[in-house]
Amino acid sequence: MSFLTTRHDRYRAGVLPSCLGGHCPTMGQHHIKDKVETMAVTQRPQDKLRTPKPLKKAARIILPWPLNLYQTAIGKKWVMGLTGLGLVGFVVAHMIGNLHLYEGQIAVAEYAHSLRTIADGLLPETAVLWVLRLGLISMFGLHIHSAVTLTRMNQVANSAYQAPRDYAKANFASRTTRITGLIIAVFVIWHLADLTWGFTDGFMGWQGDGFNHGDPLWNVDQSMSNIVIALWYMIATVAVAVHLFHGIGSAFTSIGINSPKITPLVKPLAAGIAGLILVGNLLFPIMVQAGVLEADTPADIHQLIEDGFPHGENE
Ligand code: HEM
Repeated sequence: MSFLTTRHDRYRAGVLPSCLGGHCPTMGQHHIKDKVETMAVTQRPQDKLRTPKPLKKAARIILPWPLNLYQTAIGKKWVMGLTGLGLVGFVVAHMIGNLHLYEGQIAVAEYAHSLRTIADGLLPETAVLWVLRLGLISMFGLHIHSAVTLTRMNQVANSAYQAPRDYAKANFASRTTRITGLIIAVFVIWHLADLTWGFTDGFMGWQGDGFNHGDPLWNVDQSMSNIVIALWYMIATVAVAVHLFHGIGSAFTSIGINSPKITPLVKPLAAGIAGLILVGNLLFPIMVQAGVLEADTPADIHQLIEDGFPHGENE
């Protein structure tokens, strides 16, 4: 038995649960200052004030600066924002580069070859491409790792919510970010297997008449002529666009670029980039299905390299 002297004492002890948050339907918002009422209340075990649990166990090893920043939620958000913006740059550049597909089989093969031979003569073939690839792999890895660990921290922190969530500030894109992120991760692995490594050659009929290394139009045509694969590319493209729309906005917030001048421009910028990627990438499978993007025979890439990719011979 104990004496709780004010209504506020009883609210804090959980005796007046309807007063949570100081909003009391019967007493108004400022009941805390209400007159003192003396009464006896039996204190049950569940009335005890709950001590909040720590959000996560302290990291066992504290890394040296600046790596220890990554052990905080703010540091992870920075990493997620910066790597996300880097990946947006890749997706935009990749879509623009893929427009060479419209120039024909030889022109796009020449473009792909030029990527493999940047700084040719100075450095071994594909050296610069591998530096770029390692940067891309690190960005993907850090982006996914920061997203997963932040989600875990967030789930632990949210475990105390006792009322249904109010999504007043969240929209469709922000609430589905984890799902679209997962779709993109699966898509990228599959996409590499399909168009870079050629692993899908002969597997379940994907890659129709076979994969031809260094011949992007032939490979894209063989892959996306299959209606199921074309639809899969379209689904992944929608996931990329929705993910970018939310991601670009939150990246600016995460890294602290959110002044009254800049913030109103971020949403139109995000919508513009996401829209560009949506239309540009959706058109590739559509154009293959429509027969606009097609290659009749696999190109002899070794011969083309020897001939210096003769111009004016594109179909
Ligand atoms: C319909 C849209 C797309 C088309 C037509 C397309 C086409 C291609 C092609 C032809 C290649 C092989 C290039 C070569 O080996 O010469 C490739 C590679 C690649 N694509 Fe895509 N792509 C599309 C969308 C995407 C998206 C949305 C992403 C990422 C989210 C992506 C990520 C990659 C990566 C990481 C590579 C490997 C680059 C390398 O290191 O060689 N692609 N893509």
